[in-house]
Amino acid sequence: MVLAPMAGITNAAYRRLCAEQGALRDGCSATASGTTGLYVSEMITSRGLVEGDATTKAMLVFDETEQVRSVQLYGTDPSYVGRATEILCSEYGVAHVDLNFGCPVPKVTRKGGGAALPWKRNLLGRILEQAVAAGERHGVPVTMKTRKGIDEDHLTFLDAGRIAQESGAAAIALHGRTAIQGYSGRADWDSIAELVAHVDIPVLGNGDIWEAADAIRMVEHTGAAGVVVGRGCLGRPWLFRDLAAAFAGPVEPFEPAAHPSSPGLPTLGEVRRVMLRHAELLCRHMGEERGCKEFRKHVSWYLKGFPAGGTLRHSLALVSTLADLDALLAGLDPDEAFPEAELGTPRGRQGSPRRKVALPEGWLDDTDGTGAVAVEDAGETSGG
Ligand SMILES: Cc1cc2nc3c(=O)[nH]c(=O)nc-3n(C[C@H](O)[C@H](O)[C@H](O)COP(=O)(O)O)c2cc1C
Repeated sequence: MVLAPMAGITNAAYRRLCAEQGALRDGCSATASGTTGLYVSEMITSRGLVEGDATTKAMLVFDETEQVRSVQLYGTDPSYVGRATEILCSEYGVAHVDLNFGCPVPKVTRKGGGAALPWKRNLLGRILEQAVAAGERHGVPVTMKTRKGIDEDHLTFLDAGRIAQESGAAAIALHGRTAIQGYSGRADWDSIAELVAHVDIPVLGNGDIWEAADAIRMVEHTGAAGVVVGRGCLGRPWLFRDLAAAFAGPVEPFEPAAHPSSPGLPTLGEVRRVMLRHAELLCRHMGEERGCKEFRKHVSWYLKGFPAGGTLRHSLALVSTLADLDALLAGLDPDEAFPEAELGTPRGRQGSPRRKVALPEGWLDDTDGTGAVAVEDAGETSGG
Protein backbone atom coordinates (compact mmCIF):
# COMPACT_ATOMS: atom_id res chain seq x y z
CA MET A 1 0.00 0.00 0.00
CA VAL A 2 1.39 3.33 -1.06
CA LEU A 3 0.50 6.81 0.11
CA ALA A 4 0.19 8.67 -3.19
CA PRO A 5 2.46 11.66 -3.65
CA MET A 6 0.30 14.75 -3.16
CA ALA A 7 1.74 18.24 -3.56
CA GLY A 8 1.09 20.35 -0.47
CA ILE A 9 -0.03 17.29 1.52
CA THR A 10 2.48 14.44 1.77
CA ASN A 11 5.19 16.30 3.66
CA ALA A 12 7.26 14.64 6.40
CA ALA A 13 4.61 15.26 9.06
CA TYR A 14 1.77 13.73 7.07
CA ARG A 15 3.87 10.77 5.97
CA ARG A 16 4.71 10.04 9.60
CA LEU A 17 1.08 10.41 10.63
CA CYS A 18 -0.06 7.91 7.98
CA ALA A 19 2.78 5.53 8.85
CA GLU A 20 1.85 5.70 12.55
CA GLN A 21 -1.73 4.94 11.66
CA GLY A 22 -0.63 2.16 9.31
CA ALA A 23 0.83 0.27 12.25
CA LEU A 24 -1.82 -2.14 13.47
CA ARG A 25 -3.35 -1.61 16.88
CA ASP A 26 -2.01 -4.79 18.40
CA GLY A 27 1.49 -3.42 17.90
CA CYS A 28 2.18 -5.36 14.70
CA SER A 29 3.64 -3.14 12.07
CA ALA A 30 2.08 -3.18 8.65
CA THR A 31 5.25 -4.85 7.43
CA ALA A 32 4.98 -7.60 10.01
CA SER A 33 1.45 -8.30 8.83
CA GLY A 34 2.81 -8.87 5.32
CA THR A 35 1.71 -5.55 3.87
CA THR A 36 4.41 -3.01 3.23
CA GLY A 37 3.55 0.65 3.48
CA LEU A 38 5.37 3.16 1.35
CA TYR A 39 4.84 6.85 2.00
CA VAL A 40 5.93 8.98 -0.95
CA SER A 41 7.01 12.61 -0.65
CA GLU A 42 5.56 15.58 -2.43
CA MET A 43 6.89 16.07 -5.93
CA ILE A 44 10.18 17.91 -6.27
CA THR A 45 11.70 19.02 -9.57
CA SER A 46 14.92 17.52 -10.84
CA ARG A 47 16.14 20.82 -12.21
CA GLY A 48 15.42 22.55 -8.91
CA LEU A 49 17.44 19.93 -7.09
CA VAL A 50 20.36 19.95 -9.53
CA GLU A 51 20.54 23.75 -9.43
CA GLY A 52 20.31 23.84 -5.64
CA ASP A 53 17.00 25.74 -5.58
CA ALA A 54 16.22 26.66 -1.96
CA THR A 55 12.49 25.77 -2.09
CA THR A 56 13.26 22.37 -3.57
CA LYS A 57 15.85 21.64 -0.93
CA ALA A 58 13.52 22.80 1.84
CA MET A 59 10.98 20.18 0.67
CA LEU A 60 13.51 17.39 1.11
CA VAL A 61 12.87 16.99 4.81
CA PHE A 62 12.39 13.58 6.41
CA ASP A 63 11.05 12.57 9.77
CA GLU A 64 13.51 10.85 12.09
CA THR A 65 11.24 7.79 12.17
CA GLU A 66 11.13 7.53 8.39
CA GLN A 67 13.07 4.40 7.55
CA VAL A 68 12.40 4.32 3.83
CA ARG A 69 12.88 7.70 2.25
CA SER A 70 10.70 7.77 -0.84
CA VAL A 71 10.79 10.82 -3.10
CA GLN A 72 8.81 11.73 -6.16
CA LEU A 73 10.78 13.50 -8.83
CA TYR A 74 9.41 15.53 -11.70
CA GLY A 75 11.49 16.02 -14.80
CA THR A 76 11.44 16.24 -18.55
CA ASP A 77 15.16 16.28 -19.31
CA PRO A 78 17.00 12.94 -19.06
CA SER A 79 20.22 14.54 -17.90
CA TYR A 80 18.60 16.54 -15.07
CA VAL A 81 16.54 13.56 -13.95
CA GLY A 82 19.63 11.33 -13.90
CA ARG A 83 21.64 13.87 -11.94
CA ALA A 84 18.78 14.57 -9.54
CA THR A 85 18.37 10.84 -8.86
CA GLU A 86 22.09 10.62 -8.15
CA ILE A 87 21.84 13.53 -5.67
CA LEU A 88 18.82 11.99 -3.93
CA CYS A 89 20.63 8.68 -3.50
CA SER A 90 24.06 9.98 -2.56
CA GLU A 91 23.21 13.06 -0.48
CA TYR A 92 19.75 12.42 0.93
CA GLY A 93 19.82 8.69 1.65
CA VAL A 94 16.74 8.15 -0.47
CA ALA A 95 15.70 4.50 -0.87
CA HIS A 96 13.06 4.88 -3.57
CA VAL A 97 12.59 7.35 -6.40
CA ASP A 98 9.27 7.69 -8.20
CA LEU A 99 9.05 9.64 -11.46
CA ASN A 100 5.97 11.77 -12.12
CA PHE A 101 4.49 11.23 -15.58
CA GLY A 102 0.90 11.82 -14.56
CA CYS A 103 0.50 15.49 -13.74
CA PRO A 104 -2.44 16.96 -15.76
CA VAL A 105 -1.91 20.60 -14.74
CA PRO A 106 -1.90 22.86 -17.86
CA LYS A 107 1.28 24.72 -16.98
CA VAL A 108 3.07 21.34 -16.80
CA THR A 109 1.57 19.58 -19.84
CA ARG A 110 1.95 22.75 -21.92
CA LYS A 111 5.69 22.22 -21.65
CA GLY A 112 5.43 18.52 -22.46
CA GLY A 113 5.82 17.44 -18.84
CA GLY A 114 3.73 15.21 -16.57
CA ALA A 115 1.00 13.25 -18.34
CA ALA A 116 2.01 14.71 -21.73
CA LEU A 117 5.50 13.24 -21.66
CA PRO A 118 4.83 9.51 -22.22
CA TRP A 119 3.48 10.45 -25.66
CA LYS A 120 7.13 10.86 -26.66
CA ARG A 121 8.15 7.24 -26.20
CA ASN A 122 11.82 7.75 -26.91
CA LEU A 123 12.15 10.68 -24.54
CA LEU A 124 10.32 8.73 -21.82
CA GLY A 125 12.75 5.84 -22.29
CA ARG A 126 15.78 8.09 -22.05
CA ILE A 127 14.55 9.73 -18.86
CA LEU A 128 13.79 6.38 -17.26
CA GLU A 129 17.15 4.93 -18.30
CA GLN A 130 19.09 7.82 -16.78
CA ALA A 131 17.16 7.62 -13.53
CA VAL A 132 17.42 3.83 -13.32
CA ALA A 133 21.18 3.95 -14.04
CA ALA A 134 21.70 6.49 -11.25
CA GLY A 135 19.51 4.49 -8.87
CA GLU A 136 21.31 1.25 -9.69
CA ARG A 137 24.65 2.72 -8.62
CA HIS A 138 23.14 2.96 -5.13
CA GLY A 139 20.84 -0.05 -5.20
CA VAL A 140 17.82 2.28 -5.25
CA PRO A 141 14.72 1.22 -7.21
CA VAL A 142 13.09 3.71 -9.56
CA THR A 143 9.38 3.54 -10.34
CA MET A 144 7.12 5.59 -12.57
CA LYS A 145 3.63 6.92 -11.96
CA THR A 146 1.42 7.77 -14.88
CA ARG A 147 -2.11 8.13 -16.20
CA LYS A 148 -3.88 6.28 -19.02
CA GLY A 149 -2.82 8.92 -21.48
CA ILE A 150 -3.61 12.39 -22.72
CA ASP A 151 -7.19 11.53 -23.71
CA GLU A 152 -9.02 8.44 -24.99
CA ASP A 153 -7.62 9.02 -28.50
CA HIS A 154 -4.08 9.36 -27.21
CA LEU A 155 -3.52 6.57 -24.71
CA THR A 156 0.01 5.97 -23.54
CA PHE A 157 -0.10 3.60 -20.58
CA LEU A 158 0.60 0.31 -22.34
CA ASP A 159 3.64 1.67 -24.17
CA ALA A 160 4.74 3.43 -20.99
CA GLY A 161 4.57 0.13 -19.11
CA ARG A 162 6.64 -1.64 -21.75
CA ILE A 163 9.19 1.20 -21.79
CA ALA A 164 9.36 1.25 -17.99
CA GLN A 165 10.03 -2.47 -18.00
CA GLU A 166 12.68 -2.25 -20.74
CA SER A 167 14.35 0.63 -18.92
CA GLY A 168 14.69 -1.36 -15.72
CA ALA A 169 12.04 0.45 -13.67
CA ALA A 170 11.03 -1.56 -10.60
CA ALA A 171 7.29 -0.93 -10.91
CA ILE A 172 4.69 1.26 -12.57
CA ALA A 173 1.76 2.94 -10.85
CA LEU A 174 -1.26 3.70 -13.01
CA HIS A 175 -3.95 6.24 -12.20
CA GLY A 176 -6.90 5.04 -14.28
CA ARG A 177 -7.76 8.43 -15.74
CA THR A 178 -6.53 10.42 -18.72
CA ALA A 179 -5.11 13.93 -18.35
CA ILE A 180 -8.20 15.48 -19.93
CA GLN A 181 -10.36 13.91 -17.23
CA GLY A 182 -8.44 15.64 -14.46
CA TYR A 183 -10.07 14.16 -11.34
CA SER A 184 -13.56 13.90 -12.80
CA GLY A 185 -15.56 10.78 -13.53
CA ARG A 186 -14.46 7.40 -12.26
CA ALA A 187 -11.07 5.78 -12.44
CA ASP A 188 -10.99 3.02 -15.04
CA TRP A 189 -9.75 -0.03 -13.18
CA ASP A 190 -9.97 -2.13 -16.37
CA SER A 191 -7.00 -0.17 -17.72
CA ILE A 192 -5.03 -1.23 -14.64
CA ALA A 193 -5.92 -4.86 -15.35
CA GLU A 194 -4.85 -4.38 -18.97
CA LEU A 195 -1.48 -3.06 -17.88
CA VAL A 196 -1.04 -5.95 -15.45
CA ALA A 197 -1.56 -8.34 -18.37
CA HIS A 198 0.81 -6.34 -20.57
CA VAL A 199 3.96 -6.14 -18.41
CA ASP A 200 5.97 -8.37 -16.10
CA ILE A 201 7.00 -5.69 -13.61
CA PRO A 202 4.65 -5.00 -10.69
CA VAL A 203 1.75 -2.67 -11.43
CA LEU A 204 0.33 -0.53 -8.64
CA GLY A 205 -3.29 0.47 -9.09
CA ASN A 206 -4.41 4.01 -8.36
CA GLY A 207 -7.68 5.88 -8.43
CA ASP A 208 -10.83 6.07 -6.31
CA ILE A 209 -9.87 3.95 -3.33
CA TRP A 210 -12.04 5.49 -0.62
CA GLU A 211 -12.14 2.57 1.80
CA ALA A 212 -10.00 -0.47 2.56
CA ALA A 213 -12.62 -2.64 0.89
CA ASP A 214 -12.09 -0.68 -2.34
CA ALA A 215 -8.40 -1.55 -2.19
CA ILE A 216 -9.17 -5.24 -1.87
CA ARG A 217 -11.67 -4.96 -4.72
CA MET A 218 -9.14 -3.18 -6.90
CA VAL A 219 -6.50 -5.85 -6.35
CA GLU A 220 -9.04 -8.58 -7.06
CA HIS A 221 -10.33 -6.81 -10.16
CA THR A 222 -6.97 -5.92 -11.65
CA GLY A 223 -4.38 -8.34 -10.28
CA ALA A 224 -2.32 -5.30 -9.27
CA ALA A 225 0.65 -5.91 -6.97
CA GLY A 226 -0.40 -3.08 -4.69
CA VAL A 227 -2.48 0.05 -4.34
CA VAL A 228 -1.70 3.75 -4.31
CA VAL A 229 -4.09 5.81 -2.20
CA GLY A 230 -4.42 9.57 -2.47
CA ARG A 231 -7.57 11.56 -1.74
CA GLY A 232 -9.17 8.77 0.29
CA CYS A 233 -6.81 9.46 3.17
CA LEU A 234 -7.33 13.24 3.26
CA GLY A 235 -8.58 13.84 6.77
CA ARG A 236 -8.51 10.07 7.32
CA PRO A 237 -4.92 8.91 7.81
CA TRP A 238 -6.32 5.89 9.67
CA LEU A 239 -7.25 4.51 6.27
CA PHE A 240 -3.71 3.08 6.38
CA ARG A 241 -4.58 1.11 9.48
CA ASP A 242 -7.69 -0.16 7.74
CA LEU A 243 -5.68 -1.04 4.63
CA ALA A 244 -3.01 -2.88 6.63
CA ALA A 245 -5.69 -4.75 8.53
CA ALA A 246 -7.70 -5.56 5.41
CA PHE A 247 -4.69 -6.95 3.57
CA ALA A 248 -3.70 -8.89 6.69
CA GLY A 249 -7.15 -10.40 7.23
CA PRO A 250 -10.52 -9.35 8.62
CA VAL A 251 -10.74 -5.66 9.57
CA GLU A 252 -10.17 -4.93 13.27
CA PRO A 253 -12.76 -2.77 15.01
CA PHE A 254 -11.54 0.68 16.03
CA GLU A 255 -13.45 1.33 19.27
CA PRO A 256 -15.78 -1.65 19.50
CA ALA A 257 -16.59 -1.26 23.17
CA ALA A 258 -17.49 2.41 23.03
CA HIS A 259 -19.44 2.32 19.79
CA PRO A 260 -20.87 -1.05 18.95
CA SER A 261 -23.07 0.49 16.27
CA SER A 262 -20.08 1.73 14.29
CA PRO A 263 -17.39 -0.91 14.52
CA GLY A 264 -14.12 0.15 12.92
CA LEU A 265 -14.95 3.83 12.79
CA PRO A 266 -13.37 6.56 14.90
CA THR A 267 -15.53 8.75 17.09
CA LEU A 268 -15.14 12.51 16.91
CA GLY A 269 -12.97 12.26 20.03
CA GLU A 270 -10.60 9.92 18.17
CA VAL A 271 -10.60 12.17 15.12
CA ARG A 272 -9.79 15.09 17.39
CA ARG A 273 -6.75 13.22 18.75
CA VAL A 274 -5.54 12.50 15.22
CA MET A 275 -6.04 16.16 14.27
CA LEU A 276 -3.94 17.30 17.21
CA ARG A 277 -1.26 14.76 16.37
CA HIS A 278 -1.19 15.95 12.77
CA ALA A 279 -0.90 19.59 13.79
CA GLU A 280 1.76 18.76 16.36
CA LEU A 281 3.87 16.93 13.76
CA LEU A 282 3.49 19.80 11.29
CA CYS A 283 4.60 22.28 13.94
CA ARG A 284 7.54 20.11 14.88
CA HIS A 285 8.75 20.11 11.28
CA MET A 286 7.84 23.65 10.26
CA GLY A 287 7.59 25.69 13.42
CA GLU A 288 4.30 26.52 15.12
CA GLU A 289 3.17 29.39 12.92
CA ARG A 290 3.70 27.67 9.58
CA GLY A 291 2.63 24.31 10.93
CA CYS A 292 -0.73 25.66 12.11
CA LYS A 293 -1.22 27.48 8.83
CA GLU A 294 -0.54 24.25 6.91
CA PHE A 295 -2.93 22.38 9.16
CA ARG A 296 -5.83 24.69 8.33
CA LYS A 297 -6.39 23.10 4.91
CA HIS A 298 -6.95 19.71 6.57
CA VAL A 299 -9.65 20.85 9.00
CA SER A 300 -12.62 20.51 6.67
CA TRP A 301 -11.48 17.07 5.53
CA TYR A 302 -11.26 15.82 9.12
CA LEU A 303 -14.63 17.27 10.06
CA LYS A 304 -16.46 16.30 6.87
CA GLY A 305 -19.92 15.09 7.85
CA PHE A 306 -19.47 15.69 11.60
CA PRO A 307 -21.70 18.23 13.33
CA ALA A 308 -19.45 21.24 13.98
CA GLY A 309 -20.86 24.76 13.91
CA GLY A 310 -19.95 27.38 11.35
CA THR A 311 -18.32 29.61 13.97
CA LEU A 312 -16.10 26.78 15.18
CA ARG A 313 -15.12 25.79 11.63
CA HIS A 314 -14.34 29.42 10.88
CA SER A 315 -12.14 29.75 13.98
CA LEU A 316 -10.37 26.49 13.13
CA ALA A 317 -9.65 27.83 9.65
CA LEU A 318 -7.76 30.71 11.28
CA VAL A 319 -5.96 28.78 14.00
CA SER A 320 -2.37 29.87 14.64
CA THR A 321 -1.23 28.05 17.80
CA LEU A 322 -1.46 24.47 19.02
CA ALA A 323 -2.98 25.67 22.28
CA ASP A 324 -5.77 27.45 20.39
CA LEU A 325 -6.36 24.36 18.28
CA ASP A 326 -6.62 22.21 21.38
CA ALA A 327 -9.04 24.63 23.00
CA LEU A 328 -11.22 24.90 19.90
CA LEU A 329 -11.35 21.15 19.40
CA ALA A 330 -12.39 20.75 23.03
CA GLY A 331 -15.72 22.24 21.92
CA LEU A 332 -16.51 19.09 19.91
CA ASP A 333 -18.48 16.22 21.36
CA PRO A 334 -15.98 13.35 21.72
CA ASP A 335 -18.73 10.74 21.71
CA GLU A 336 -20.15 11.79 18.37
CA ALA A 337 -20.18 8.75 16.09
CA PHE A 338 -18.44 8.79 12.73
CA PRO A 339 -20.77 10.02 9.96
CA GLU A 340 -21.27 6.76 8.11
CA ALA A 341 -22.80 8.54 5.12
CA GLU A 342 -19.28 9.76 4.31
CA LEU A 343 -17.99 6.23 3.84
CA GLY A 344 -17.10 5.29 0.30
CA THR A 345 -17.72 8.80 -1.00
CA PRO A 346 -15.19 10.91 -2.92
CA ARG A 347 -13.23 13.58 -1.07
CA GLY A 348 -10.68 16.17 -2.16
CA ARG A 349 -10.32 17.31 -5.77
CA GLN A 350 -12.97 16.18 -8.26
CA GLY A 351 -14.03 18.89 -10.70
CA SER A 352 -15.04 18.42 -14.29
CA PRO A 353 -13.13 17.26 -17.36
CA ARG A 354 -10.96 19.81 -19.18
CA ARG A 355 -11.96 20.99 -22.64
CA LYS A 356 -8.49 20.17 -23.94
CA VAL A 357 -5.05 19.30 -22.66
CA ALA A 358 -2.52 22.09 -23.14
CA LEU A 359 0.44 20.70 -25.11
CA PRO A 360 3.51 22.13 -26.84
CA GLU A 361 2.98 23.05 -30.50
CA GLY A 362 2.99 19.91 -32.66
CA TRP A 363 3.47 17.59 -29.64
CA LEU A 364 1.12 14.94 -31.01
CA ASP A 365 2.69 14.93 -34.50
CA ASP A 366 5.03 12.08 -33.70
CA THR A 367 5.30 9.58 -30.88
CA ASP A 368 9.04 9.16 -30.91
CA GLY A 369 10.49 12.34 -29.49
CA THR A 370 14.07 11.58 -30.46
CA GLY A 371 15.92 14.78 -29.81
CA ALA A 372 12.82 16.29 -28.21
CA VAL A 373 13.52 18.35 -25.15
CA ALA A 374 10.61 19.46 -23.04
CA VAL A 375 11.25 22.66 -21.15
CA GLU A 376 11.84 21.99 -17.48
CA ASP A 377 10.86 24.53 -14.90
CA ALA A 378 12.93 24.51 -11.70
CA GLY A 379 10.10 25.93 -9.60
CA GLU A 380 7.29 23.61 -10.67
CA THR A 381 5.36 22.40 -7.63
CA SER A 382 1.84 21.72 -8.85
CA GLY A 383 1.92 17.94 -8.54
CA GLY A 384 -0.43 15.42 -10.06
C1 LIG B 1 -3.85 17.66 -3.74
C2 LIG B 1 -3.26 16.64 -4.68
C3 LIG B 1 -1.92 16.74 -5.04
C4 LIG B 1 -1.36 15.80 -5.90
N1 LIG B 1 -0.03 15.86 -6.19
C5 LIG B 1 0.56 14.87 -6.92
C6 LIG B 1 1.96 14.84 -7.16
O1 LIG B 1 2.71 15.71 -6.70
N2 LIG B 1 2.45 13.83 -7.92
C7 LIG B 1 1.65 12.85 -8.44
O2 LIG B 1 2.15 11.94 -9.11
N3 LIG B 1 0.33 12.85 -8.23
C8 LIG B 1 -0.23 13.82 -7.48
N4 LIG B 1 -1.56 13.78 -7.24
C9 LIG B 1 -2.36 12.68 -7.77
C10 LIG B 1 -2.43 11.53 -6.75
O3 LIG B 1 -1.15 11.03 -6.48
C11 LIG B 1 -3.32 10.39 -7.29
O4 LIG B 1 -2.75 9.88 -8.45
C12 LIG B 1 -4.75 10.85 -7.60
O5 LIG B 1 -5.25 11.66 -6.56
C13 LIG B 1 -5.67 9.65 -7.83
O6 LIG B 1 -5.70 8.82 -6.71
P1 LIG B 1 -6.91 8.88 -5.63
O7 LIG B 1 -8.17 8.63 -6.37
O8 LIG B 1 -6.55 7.82 -4.62
O9 LIG B 1 -6.88 10.26 -5.06
C14 LIG B 1 -2.15 14.74 -6.42
C15 LIG B 1 -3.50 14.67 -6.06
C16 LIG B 1 -4.06 15.59 -5.21
C17 LIG B 1 -5.51 15.44 -4.83
